Amino acid sequence: MATTQQRTYDVGGVKLDRPFKIRRLGHFGFNVTNMDASKHFYNTLLGFNISDTLDFAGRSPALEGIKETKGYFMHHGGDHHAFVIFPKQALDAMSRGSGHEGDGDVTVNQITWQCGSLQEVMEGETYFAEHEVPIRRTGRDAPGSNWHTYVWDPDDHINELYYGIEQFGWLRRSKPQSLYYRSFREKPELPQISEWDEVAEAEANGINVFEGTYDGAGLPSKYDVQGIMLPRPFKITKIGPVDLFVNDIARATDFYVNELGFVFTEETNYNGHRCVFLRNGNEHHSLALFPKALRSELGLSPHTSCASFGLEVGTYQQLKDSVSFLKEHGVIFREMPEELHPGVDYVAYAQDPDGHLLQIYYYMEQLGWQGKPRPKELRRQKNGEWPQTLEPLSDTYVDQVYQGPLG
Ligand SMILES: [Fe+2]
Repeated sequence: MATTQQRTYDVGGVKLDRPFKIRRLGHFGFNVTNMDASKHFYNTLLGFNISDTLDFAGRSPALEGIKETKGYFMHHGGDHHAFVIFPKQALDAMSRGSGHEGDGDVTVNQITWQCGSLQEVMEGETYFAEHEVPIRRTGRDAPGSNWHTYVWDPDDHINELYYGIEQFGWLRRSKPQSLYYRSFREKPELPQISEWDEVAEAEANGINVFEGTYDGAGLPSKYDVQGIMLPRPFKITKIGPVDLFVNDIARATDFYVNELGFVFTEETNYNGHRCVFLRNGNEHHSLALFPKALRSELGLSPHTSCASFGLEVGTYQQLKDSVSFLKEHGVIFREMPEELHPGVDYVAYAQDPDGHLLQIYYYMEQLGWQGKPRPKELRRQKNGEWPQTLEPLSDTYVDQVYQGPLG
């Protein structure tokens, strides 16, 4: 809905148009039909480790007769989950699919954005209520421990704003269920105690905080990735962008810019279709909006409104090696036109078992203080075969800041 921004909000001493500022994409997920094959694809082949499992069995009589009731939280770095897969049939049966007005073509489980504080998220909820943005729920979930509020976009995609997701460390273990008593099913009063004090309190009460789960299985570590032996010849270092097909580009753009505070970077035109690219930080885009009419023109799966989900790998070499590795394991790749990935030079689109596309890349153009994308004619010109090596750009590897060891 169109809004006129008049009042400002004090966000940590700075006056903003909203009481929150999205910092980055935190996690994302799909509701899938082929759970076993999807688990193999995302966990074994792409290397998202499972941090926790959530089983809906017994939670609802609507699940009677439904075989697949488990969802998986997965991580590629410190965040408890960067990616989730949940059982579509079970969620739809419980009316917990993403779309709040029927199942439709929304297979995105959630698109989740990190804010800077608990206060930002909770004042964000008040802001959404005032703006009549539909709110699904607010609170704090376990697994993951992140405080959040969920809202729907105009096309029924769930967007979550959160603060404070649980971090995985060298122990490889998630928080045990014995700490889940600190979850909230409703909007919490502020302030809350810190996680540091929560854990100290639990230990003082005799809880063994080290008994969480970890993902021990996997492929043998036989690939030398720039000096470290890993189970795959690449490492996912970042997630996003999220590319969506929407019914009305202007309406969706208005929602993400005016309600959520995204910044417009660029728009392209492909075969007469307007494609919009939005960001939160220095990245060229963290969200792209394409008209739904484009989906069939591109020959993409009609079952999903997600055009692609981005996965950044550590280097150009890793990008090439990831394509070879995934092809060896039978993964199908698709071609997508340049106009759908401005600011990303070399890219490969892999297809998951349900037909979702994964946009695998190693470089995304970065914007400086002037907030301007690089002019098209100054971008890397590509022709034909991918070269052995590349000349650097001014922003090559600038956003490659993966924290901690690669494996
Ligand atoms: Fe989430």
